Amino acid sequence: MRIDLIKTSQGKPYERVSDYYAGKSVFVTGGTGFLGKVLIERLLYNCTDIESIYVLIRGKKGFKSENRLQQMLDVPVFDKLKALKPNALKKIILIEGDITKPDLDIKSSDEQKLIDNVSVVFHSAATVRFVESFENIMKVNFEGTRHVMDLSKKIKNLETFLYLSTCFSNANKLVIDETIYPKPKTIDEVYSFIDNYGDNSEATENFINGYPNTYTLSKALCENYVDENRGTMKTIIVRPSIVTPVLKEPLPGWQDSWVAATATFSDIARGLTKVIYGDPNVVCDMIPVDYVCNFIIVAAARGNPSDDIIVYNSCSSSSNPITWKRGADLYLGESLRHGKYDLKPRPVEVSMSQLKVNLLTFILQTTPSFLADLWLRLKGESPKYLKMQKRPVLLRDILKYFSSTSYHIKSENSQKLIETLDKRDRAMFPCDPRTIAWQTYMPLFCRGIQKYLLKPKQ
Ligand SMILES: NC(=O)c1ccc[n+]([C@@H]2O[C@H](COP(=O)([O-])OP(=O)(O)OC[C@H]3O[C@@H](n4cnc5c(N)ncnc54)[C@H](OP(=O)(O)O)[C@@H]3O)[C@@H](O)[C@H]2O)c1
Repeated sequence: MRIDLIKTSQGKPYERVSDYYAGKSVFVTGGTGFLGKVLIERLLYNCTDIESIYVLIRGKKGFKSENRLQQMLDVPVFDKLKALKPNALKKIILIEGDITKPDLDIKSSDEQKLIDNVSVVFHSAATVRFVESFENIMKVNFEGTRHVMDLSKKIKNLETFLYLSTCFSNANKLVIDETIYPKPKTIDEVYSFIDNYGDNSEATENFINGYPNTYTLSKALCENYVDENRGTMKTIIVRPSIVTPVLKEPLPGWQDSWVAATATFSDIARGLTKVIYGDPNVVCDMIPVDYVCNFIIVAAARGNPSDDIIVYNSCSSSSNPITWKRGADLYLGESLRHGKYDLKPRPVEVSMSQLKVNLLTFILQTTPSFLADLWLRLKGESPKYLKMQKRPVLLRDILKYFSSTSYHIKSENSQKLIETLDKRDRAMFPCDPRTIAWQTYMPLFCRGIQKYLLKPKQ
């Protein structure tokens, strides 16, 4: 693929990525999420002449959307922006709405603002839970995408519609190229399955046929829907792999959600997981959240000058791979330096033999937990360690598919786009996975989890 840079109205390519955003407004869904917060912060921090960022937020758990916007800005990832560029925050414009509702359930005056002003839509909102009812996953991910696209099509001067998918939207394949694959199921088949079987786990496993879960399948369905229904919208799909804490800016180590690798590494370092099902040589495809968000900003600015759809895999495995085992060992090494663990941790055992995994789980996890509980009982305290084992074992089993499958995730399109960045833009929007030094990143990852996710509980 050739990357031709998007041109200004005078026909010249934008010199800098941030120039593209000058005087433009963007619409972000999923702004309160892990990626969304970093995306908004990076846009405001680096694209200083951006006009406005419209952020879709729903009311939730008794909190109104205005309060939720404030809660979002109270997160430490915005501290640097607040300290150095406080006025930038005024560019955030709240749009109250819910992607599961037709027209996003937004006020007609808000809809008009979007229609009149927005140049780029970043659709990031989704449910990323692997254990969730199939019906709800379809409601949020599929119907949500349909509704966001319906609205985007009404926007007068839309330049790009960017959809956040996942590298694992085709997790039933071993080679994952930057292309849209044929849809795994029709929407009618999916809804008829849900009507007939609900969340029957055995039937679901048969139905999803090689996919690890309904989340990844839903993302494949969304990609196909986006492709088939984009009309004349210039469309980009960015597929991150496993998104991990901030590497560089704005706050190294920052992370705010327990997902896949984060929870697994943390469980290993806390002595809760000592054995996982997998192949020691299988690569864990991680990409820091700031790298993903910088890449998204670059992609929307210069990633699709044609009318065709373009797909970018934002990932590390093809250019700078690290195995699950090495990632876990580096993380554990840092954790041991700080001595923060519940049960004495040890380097994780990785095996493709289910029998060995079960046996080692009994010897290395269940037995010490039982003995630790016995000791607590003898002291007159309540037992807790066997109970603590349940979640890590469940998580390990949920991730089994990923820790045992050798994917070849291609990223030529992404690399080519990154190559178009000059030295200054590379420094401002670091996104080249080859620049991740795992030796120092994994200890940072560990310190970030201890500081931002585990700290409140200690
Ligand atoms: N995290 C990863 O490792 C990863 C990897 C690959 C791809 N991705 C993709 O990246 C995107 C962002 O993921 P993330 O990690 O940032 O997820 P996240 O932290 O769970 O955030 C999800 C966002 O979606 C919003 N949302 C959910 N349902 C909504 C609804 N009905 N109406 C409006 N907003 C709604 C949430 O808003 P509330 O705050 O209101 O719930 C939140 O802002 C997703 O599309 C995901 O598939 C993530």
